Amino acid sequence: MGWLTGEKQAGQMDKTGLPRHVAVIMDGNGRWAQRRALPRSAGHRAGAENFRRIATYCKDLGIEYLTVYAFSTENWKRPSEEVGGIMSLLRKYLIESVETMARDRIRLRFLGDTSVLGGELRELIVRTDEISAKLGADCFQANICLNYGGRDEIVRAARAFAAQCAAGEKQPQELTEADFARYLYSAGLPDPELLIRPGGELRISNFLLWQCAYSEIYVTDTLWPDFDEAAMDQALSWYRARDRRFGGLSKKQER
Ligand code: IPE
Ligand code: IPE
Ligand code: MG
Repeated sequence: MGWLTGEKQAGQMDKTGLPRHVAVIMDGNGRWAQRRALPRSAGHRAGAENFRRIATYCKDLGIEYLTVYAFSTENWKRPSEEVGGIMSLLRKYLIESVETMARDRIRLRFLGDTSVLGGELRELIVRTDEISAKLGADCFQANICLNYGGRDEIVRAARAFAAQCAAGEKQPQELTEADFARYLYSAGLPDPELLIRPGGELRISNFLLWQCAYSEIYVTDTLWPDFDEAAMDQALSWYRARDRRFGGLSKKQER
């Protein structure tokens, strides 16, 4: 098989058994730049370019949702220069997206607390939301986690539900897992079947804590800017070979 031997060209892979939803922790931009004696900002630029490449590839493969971790609630701890650089890259990317997303049939959705972002960024997010709403639900969707934290998301959901209970609109004992998921930023999205972490760190860094309960986790030392179509093929092939038991028994064990 090509995916085992690496013989197959990227994009030549069998498209059966693909996940509907892939999540990616886009990590390793800084190290990518450091290895080239470049400033960290160059790594973030290369990382943003790579998001474009991988989103296009996922769309072409027929994956429905790609959710990427772009900026965490903890990333504000970085030097303000670096944070400012990431925000201007985002601005540039969104300005281009407003022009191209209808043509490319790519919907964008933002997960996280975007209310604290600058006015221009917030306006651009409103614009991309409007364009996304006009594109049909059958279009590929990229979800960008921005000022996103898994714990923050869960606390906000709990607060919203508690407020409805206090107002007499909801009963605590009636809350189900499916109901609770509707209070999350990810409301309406299927859980990601596959979570990819480039950059080699064996941790989740506060990403999609609720949604990744049963995701298959693929970690590679490849840094995000180098994570190309062939690297994606490898991750998808690895995913296909997983035995997803969800706490039960595998088909083999049942016999
Ligand atoms: C991920 O790359 C991008 C963000 C967190 C915004 P890093 O900047 O964390 O890159 P490394 O981990 O330092 O290499
Ligand atoms: C996770 O990467 C956040 C993003 C990729 C946006 P970090 O580089 O912030 O994670 P840690 O600090 O290594 O856990
Ligand atoms: Mg990092």
